[in-house]
Amino acid sequence: MVERANVRVLESVEALAEAAALDFASRARASVQERGAFRVALSGGSTPVRMFERLAKSAADASIPWSSIHWCWGDERPVPPTDEASNFRAAHDALLRHVPIEAANVHRIEGELAPALAAERYERELRRVFAEEREGVPRFDLLYLGLGPDGHVASLFPGSEALHEGSHLVVANWIEHLAMNRITITYPVINAARAVVLLVGGADKRDVLRRALVSDGTVPFLPVHGVHPSSGELLWLVDRSAAPQTS
Ligand code: 6PG
Repeated sequence: MVERANVRVLESVEALAEAAALDFASRARASVQERGAFRVALSGGSTPVRMFERLAKSAADASIPWSSIHWCWGDERPVPPTDEASNFRAAHDALLRHVPIEAANVHRIEGELAPALAAERYERELRRVFAEEREGVPRFDLLYLGLGPDGHVASLFPGSEALHEGSHLVVANWIEHLAMNRITITYPVINAARAVVLLVGGADKRDVLRRALVSDGTVPFLPVHGVHPSSGELLWLVDRSAAPQTS
């Protein structure tokens, strides 16, 4: 039995970016109206960049509560923010520098620091940003994830220690095949979110997406299978080239 995930298939990567940008704006308005803030965790990699660029075109849209948005990340590479591999830099260059944000509301992961220190500082920052969360786990209003070809999400890679982390919000996670530590949020944070949106595009993701959407134990575990928002929405926005072929 395939879990009835909420999967929206868009005709192209451009249509995916458009749909994701409109979804972002709608959630931002609702969240600020209900809670006075919109706290989002951006994902890394290449897929979200088109969405960032599309969202940047709405800079003049005053209905988007830009100044009430808190910008966080789901993971970061162990590089400075100026490095082209930086997830912060990708979002800054494509989106944040183009829209009227509050600089104090940007909570980047300090990839330039030693990974364990960066993880500790980011966890402390998240707890500060979400100080009113009674149960202590930050509850993002929107948390983006991409899907790696091996089924990883954030920097929760197959076989890595962080898959088993149940108390820390953020850890430095050694990725053997990359021979590097990555700083990543853990499942408790992902699964506390009010909404998790996975952005998946490209024909190269078709096979892993097909396996990702099967959660009845008939396919080997993938890190994405650990994504189960306990009381939040799970939405997949995928483009047609990545979508499993309907029979
Ligand atoms: C990262 C991301 C990672 C990414 C997936 C998909 O730091 O690379 O957080 O989890 O979302 O690898 O990446 P693409 O969108 O580039 O395929």
